[in-house]
Formats: sequence, C-alpha cells, structure tokens
Amino acid sequence: MSSIGIIGGSGLDQLAALTDVRARRVTTAWGEPSGPLLEGRLDGTPVIFLPRHGAAHHLPPHRINYRANIAALRDAGVKEIFAVAAVGGIGREAAPGALVVPDQIIDYTWGREHTFHDGLDGQVEHVEFGEPFCPTLRNCLIEAARALGQPLVAQGCYGATQGPRLETAAEIARMARDGCTLVGMTGMPEAALAREAGLAYASCSLVVNWAAGLSAEPITMEDILRELREGMGRVLCVLSAAVRLRQAAAKG
Ligand code: HPA
Repeated sequence: MSSIGIIGGSGLDQLAALTDVRARRVTTAWGEPSGPLLEGRLDGTPVIFLPRHGAAHHLPPHRINYRANIAALRDAGVKEIFAVAAVGGIGREAAPGALVVPDQIIDYTWGREHTFHDGLDGQVEHVEFGEPFCPTLRNCLIEAARALGQPLVAQGCYGATQGPRLETAAEIARMARDGCTLVGMTGMPEAALAREAGLAYASCSLVVNWAAGLSAEPITMEDILRELREGMGRVLCVLSAAVRLRQAAAKG
C-alpha cells in the first residue's frame, strides 16, 4: 500500500512507467471513481495511480466524479496527491511547453458536486483553503525539477473553468484581470475535495496552448496533442523524482 497518489490528466491516462501494477476496482460512499486504482511502483517507489478522465479518456471534466476519486484514494491509504494537469497559458511565463506548479486557484466551475460537506448529515463545515496547494508537495516538485535541471515555473494562479468547450477571448481577458496565469478544467473541485478529505495536494501543470485570444493562431487539438506528447516525458521525470523525494522524507 502506498501513501502517495498520482492523479493523471490529459496525456497521462496511462502511466507506462508504472511497474508491478495491480488494478483494484473500488467503490466509495460517493459512487464510482474514474476507474480502478492502479497500485504499482514508479521508479521503485510505491504509488497509486488514477487517471481522472478514465483509462480510455472517456470522462469530460464536468462528468468526473471528483468526490469518488478523492474518497477512493483516501480509503486506499493515500495521504499525498500529486495531480497532473494539461492547461492553457495566460501569463507571459506560461508559454506552451512550460511546467508550472501553481500556488493559487480561482474557481469558475458550476454545477459540479464540489464538497463532502453537503450538510445532509446536519453538520455545517467550512474547511480552510487560503493556501489551496500543499507547500511541502509544491516544494518537492520544485526541488525535483531543480535537481534535474528542468525549467519549471514555481508559481501560478490556476483558473478552473467548466468546459468542455474552450474559453472565449473575453473570458480569458477577464481571468487575466483576475490574476489567473493558467486555465484548466479539472483543478476544481479536485483540490478542495482533497483538502476536505485531509489529503495534501499539489499540481504539476503542463502548458499545452496559449489560452484563447492570446495567440494569432486558433487553438487546435493537433497542437495540444503535440505539446502533450512533447511535454509529458518531462512531467514524468519531475514526478518520479518528486515521489522519490517524498519517500526519502517519509523514511527520515
Ligand atoms: N482552457 C481550458 N483548459 C485547457 C486549456 C485551455 O485553453 N488547454 C488545456 N486545458
């Protein structure tokens, strides 16, 4: 059993580098997660991998059962989650190909099951969320990249949009005014649910396109897929090194 979970995003629906894999079908009080939990070793370190869109990438962002995904990982003994996300770049530093470890989030999603604290048990709970990402896990990703000589932007504000359509240029201009430097569709409610579940959570985001209106060229799936192919190898290297650092820290 591992205390480290990895949630894969677009371009990381399979973790080929995972060895000794055991797929475990689980269900939770909140329903079915996106697929079986894949328990294995990443570069020797035990991890549990869960692709958030499903192994065949069949779940759009608004149909993902985020509650079941987080609950399944927690129930399996996970304490720390590294989440991988493909995002659009809004900030100048977030050009296609950049790796970013965001430190803030703004939530623009709607209509998603976004809390474990829905009050049905007669309890009202307000979880602290001023700093939405775990600083220890963020530092670990930053350190891992530094050790590998891999460029990485160590800050960013992730704007979570509803999707599945991409944004309008005006929406992105508004998000830029709000302070967002990245745009993606899955960071929320995932990060908030991890906090509610008491799990440490950090994101390694790969920029795969300039957000709407920021480039003369239209956004095409071809360009996004190319950036995913080119960038996911780097994400994996950083992720493996970060996971190793966490395991070393856990062993003291
Ligand atoms: N917008 C929202 N989500 C995304 C984008 C984008 O431009 N690129 C990758 N995920």
